[in-house]
Amino acid sequence: MSSLRSRQSLKFESTQPRRSGRLKEERVLVEKNVIPLPEKSSQKKLDFPARKRRQASSVTHKSASPTKKDKNDTVLEKAKSAFHSSLPSHLMCRDEEIDHMQLFLHKHMESNSPGAMYVSGPPGTGKTATLMYLLDQIKDNGSDTIILNCMTLTTPQSIFNKIASELGLKKGSEKVIIEHITSSENMILLALDEIDQLDSRGQEILYKLFEWPSLPNSCLILIGIANSLDLTDRLLPRLKAHPHTTPDLLIFPPYTKDEIMLILEDRLSPETSSMIDSMALQFCARKVAAAHGDARKALDICRRAVELFESQMKSEESSEKNKVNISHVSLIIEEVYGGTVKRADVAGSIPLQQKLIACSLLLATRGKSSKDVPLGKLYSTYVKVCKKQELRFESQSEFVSLVNMLEAQSIVTIKRGKEVLLHKVSLHYEESELAHILKDQALLSAVLDKGF
Ligand SMILES: Nc1ncnc2c1ncn2[C@@H]1O[C@H](COP(=O)(O)OP(=O)(O)OP(=O)(O)O)[C@@H](O)[C@H]1O
Ligand SMILES: [Mg+2]
Repeated sequence: MSSLRSRQSLKFESTQPRRSGRLKEERVLVEKNVIPLPEKSSQKKLDFPARKRRQASSVTHKSASPTKKDKNDTVLEKAKSAFHSSLPSHLMCRDEEIDHMQLFLHKHMESNSPGAMYVSGPPGTGKTATLMYLLDQIKDNGSDTIILNCMTLTTPQSIFNKIASELGLKKGSEKVIIEHITSSENMILLALDEIDQLDSRGQEILYKLFEWPSLPNSCLILIGIANSLDLTDRLLPRLKAHPHTTPDLLIFPPYTKDEIMLILEDRLSPETSSMIDSMALQFCARKVAAAHGDARKALDICRRAVELFESQMKSEESSEKNKVNISHVSLIIEEVYGGTVKRADVAGSIPLQQKLIACSLLLATRGKSSKDVPLGKLYSTYVKVCKKQELRFESQSEFVSLVNMLEAQSIVTIKRGKEVLLHKVSLHYEESELAHILKDQALLSAVLDKGF
């Protein structure tokens, strides 16, 4: 996704008066009345103007006078849709982070000065949503803006080709890009999401990218988002070691229980909330906050709890009965975070993505003496396997929760280390047993034949 425009008319939409206690340069801008920033409020709900709630559009009415059961089905459909973890229509509880990123953009764009920002935080903490919210705010105001998700790159090196093509340059070499960004008349905003994917030996590529804003006459404003803290631990000290490459740092903390509760409640209408016990939401918020504070996970748990309730309703034919309650949420949480979930061979079929991960793990350890694979390495094997099989693959954070689910089903064991990507994963089963467990000899053979 990218858009190239001239930067002259960049403006932020917010018009609220500012609050006290901000950074010095921010005060100066306020005094000059250049661009006011929004007033802070911990419960403020920020709209994505261009976006409509999925909830409203995803429901089809079956008949002109629906029965009570039809109505329930419709409400459940709406609730499932509302808990979808795609880009939200409202951004909640991220005022501090929005202010910080907004101030950074404002400062560099208004004064035509280059700069770099490094954004990091655990999965599902709203990093991408915040970036997209702010870019949405400035999208019609003119700037040369490039947004790239590095997950889409086949190799770290291909970032140069991609950036060059977005800039409209004929050659994808680093030299040509540097010539462009040091001679451009317009400021260029380059937002790179999931820069973990650019992690090459010694972080050379990432380091080069973060050096670009400090080149003489550079017109580049760079925002890099890392979704694993592992990269932050390794890259940031190196960037900070040189004053000219020190980026502005923005860390997204995990959400607290109250914040998750606000995010969940915001998704519901009076109609959908009537189908979900508020205690169930509280329980989910508490559990997720205690684990990783990941809003995506909280939404997924709620969506799956609604699905579970729906399937129970159908099988028990007791549509009169109650609503989604703590027991539904608790069952799903056990599945996501481990616990007493039964083995896969008893529990039934395993979703395709989990099968692919299990097959990738077998492939990665085949013929090796060690049966442990670091989670980060397993992820790259899994991505390669999916590409070979021409199948879609999940983001790194989703992948981590899928591996947790495999552990909950006793298919893999995870030896937890200090950093997530260094957790060691091993398979419980031999090759022949795995085909039986996965009930998918064809997939296993295809993965083993094609390799990665
Ligand atoms: N503050 C929020 N308000 C509303 N919804 C949110 C908020 N934060 C996260 N979400 C929901 O969670 C989803 C995941 O958030 P997001 O993609 O921004 O996380 P992230 O920090 O970029 O995670 P990752 O590191 O895995 O890329 C969003 O698409 C949205 O549905
Ligand atoms: Mg993200």
